[in-house]
Amino acid sequence: MDLIADRLKNLPTYLFMHLRSKIKQIEATGADCISLAIGDPVEPTPAYIIETLQEAVLDPDNHQYPTDEQKGMLAFRNAVSRWYGRKYGVKLDPETEVLTLGGSKEGIHHFMMAVINPGDTILITNPGYPGYRANILLAGGQAHELPLLEKNRFLPQLEEIPEDVCRRAKAFFLNYPNNPTGACADKDFFTRLVDWAHRHRILLVHDNPYSELVFPGCDRLSLLQIPGARDISVEFNSLSKYYNMTGWRIGMAVGNSGIIQAMCKFKENVTSGVFNAIQLASIRAMDEGDADIENMLAVYHRRREMVLQACDRMRIPVNAGMGTFYLWLPVPDGFSSIAFAEKLIDDACVLVTAGTAYGKHGEGYFRLSLTVTDDRLQEALDRMKNSIV
Ligand SMILES: Cc1ncc(COP(=O)(O)O)c(C=O)c1O
Repeated sequence: MDLIADRLKNLPTYLFMHLRSKIKQIEATGADCISLAIGDPVEPTPAYIIETLQEAVLDPDNHQYPTDEQKGMLAFRNAVSRWYGRKYGVKLDPETEVLTLGGSKEGIHHFMMAVINPGDTILITNPGYPGYRANILLAGGQAHELPLLEKNRFLPQLEEIPEDVCRRAKAFFLNYPNNPTGACADKDFFTRLVDWAHRHRILLVHDNPYSELVFPGCDRLSLLQIPGARDISVEFNSLSKYYNMTGWRIGMAVGNSGIIQAMCKFKENVTSGVFNAIQLASIRAMDEGDADIENMLAVYHRRREMVLQACDRMRIPVNAGMGTFYLWLPVPDGFSSIAFAEKLIDDACVLVTAGTAYGKHGEGYFRLSLTVTDDRLQEALDRMKNSIV
């Protein structure tokens, strides 16, 4: 008997599982490995969010299945609506246009299963977040990849997408501020995107878990700010990266009510929702946590400067993106992405992500995450410098 289902056979091991086991292997040898490979903030969740969780955990009402249907608690959906209104000027109906998620990653899967039929073509970017491709495979869809190139500021060139691909495509998954490149899109790009998607009758899925992490000079944006976007789009967002809550598993899908309804129908058949206590603590984060986001942004900005200065000393020419807590850096001459990432492990015990982990157009780059402490980052940069020079 073949134990494993066919749908799993073509699925690669999830990139970050692979990286985590690599770190464990290195640490088992007694070596002091510094991982700059994963975007998982080391700072704790702010205390008032934890205290709210602690109080909510003591309330037996919260020990039962999460309330207010599968959409999530109405109080949480109201908070999402307030948050989107305050930050982006986007008005959302909490009853029909907001869905609670166990993180943005869950939304990616739910969308694919709720909207994609086997054989459907889905546009994704290359490089791009590995979760899109994997879930297209799980849903039986076909990925069509659009290159993100530095000369185009890592934005897809809509006018270069062949007409037959536009005709076939059902949805386009994209993500700005972008993981892995750190690139930001502006309102002009989003406006052209929405116009293009309307013309070609393509759904837009904007995965936006870094919307708040942009450096001065760039705007914080939601795709839903663009007139007409709501007719054809859904956006995912998350508390993971803003409030150091990656482990809590909470986020939201917002936008087109038909898509939200379809995702909800899928979700109610496979999960029982997010623990009420986590939803209640997340409401406080969204209502009261703006200063925490600013604090973390200042920390990332400081670390970004540390890396840029080190790159200057290592003669690595950098065209740094203005968003996320990642830097997308060119590998030194003479190395492939993989060869350079391996060299850093061997020489320096520093783990970065090879650009090709995000697709073939990641060749020539590596991604470095700013989510370790300043001391560890400095130590990693010193080791890198000794390895390169
Ligand atoms: C582009 C992108 N989408 C989704 C996720 C998943 O985030 P969450 O923790 O909200 O599931 C990540 C996490 O790194 C990401 O980079």
